[in-house]
Amino acid sequence: MAHSLVSDVTKSVENIILSLAENKDASDSELIYLIEGSDGTSDALLFSHADAVRRKMYGKDVYIRGLIEFTNHCKNDCLYCGIRRGNKNARRYRLDRDEILSCCKEGYALGFRTFVLQGGEDPYYTDDIMCRIISGIRDLYPDCAITLSVGEKSRKSYERYYKAGANRYLLRHETADNEHYRRLHPADMDPDNRKRCLFDLKEIGYQVGSGFMVGSPYQTPANLLCDLRFLQELRPDMIGIGPYITHPCTPFKDFSSGSLELTLRMIAVLRLMFPYALIPATTALGTIHPSGRELGLKAGANVVMPNLSPVRFRKLYELYENKICTGEEAAQCISCLKARVSSAGYRVVTSRGDVKRQE
Ligand code: SAM
Ligand code: FES
Repeated sequence: MAHSLVSDVTKSVENIILSLAENKDASDSELIYLIEGSDGTSDALLFSHADAVRRKMYGKDVYIRGLIEFTNHCKNDCLYCGIRRGNKNARRYRLDRDEILSCCKEGYALGFRTFVLQGGEDPYYTDDIMCRIISGIRDLYPDCAITLSVGEKSRKSYERYYKAGANRYLLRHETADNEHYRRLHPADMDPDNRKRCLFDLKEIGYQVGSGFMVGSPYQTPANLLCDLRFLQELRPDMIGIGPYITHPCTPFKDFSSGSLELTLRMIAVLRLMFPYALIPATTALGTIHPSGRELGLKAGANVVMPNLSPVRFRKLYELYENKICTGEEAAQCISCLKARVSSAGYRVVTSRGDVKRQE
């Protein structure tokens, strides 16, 4: 009896997975069922279907993005984040234009054709300074994609960066449920403004990435469902998710980190629902489990983001505890990642890796 119940459940999970893989929508309860997971058998099924969809769209290719964490100053005070303004223990740093250009030079020689400039919301980098940095990279590397991840700005600022040569923008919505958002952020941060930014970025012409943390404090399966529905509305080109990881100098220091299992399941569900999406196997995933990024690739991810920031600053960009890859030079990082990607059955490619849209 117990056996037939289990096989019934597996069958119905399989039906949900198959219909998603055929590009059909699932009901709210079906998605919640997948999110909650039942047993190891259905996870394995989920991952293998997600992998098949990913191989159909992108083959074995894994795109690399050179991440330049250029400032850890931030005017925001997100309750989960290690570089929040309120963390007085954080030692702050900034890279200037020449330092950023020299990271790009090193990255270009190593085969990177996408540079991701990421930082806290740091008012030191006015629009004029940002545009000088962006156009500097654009002039020297016309064949590269420039991705920005510098938070919430006005539409006008986004337009200026785009004109200066930026073409992609990463801005996780963090959680699409406004009530949940308010529990993770101080009162002066507005979830609707963050969503407004994402739609503005899309209209301007950026390839847009959004996403969320898995297992953030107070998160429920219904919140994750809300994230999936929001992403269906936004239809971003890139979807970045990773486990929430505790940082000891934040108000959330006593909350536990998100789990590997749930993050992998969410990656697979995303791959099935958004076959075209560029989905990274994130550093956070590699931090909570030694093979986290390889498992992320096998569950449907197709991007990795090695660090190009100068090694002396790496530890200072500490969003969460025990962050990996803070000691290696860029060349070591890329060769380590290439080995990890091929051990998982995929191959690193050095093209720009633009999204393959399937309208
Ligand atoms: N300031 C930019 C922004 O707001 O998009 C980019 C930098 S922000 C640190 C990049 C991402 O780090 C956030 O979108 C968030 O999802 C993630 N992050 C921050 N704290 C984290 C934590 N404790 N665990 C996991 N991810 C975290
Ligand atoms: Fe600004 Fe985290 S609070 S980057």
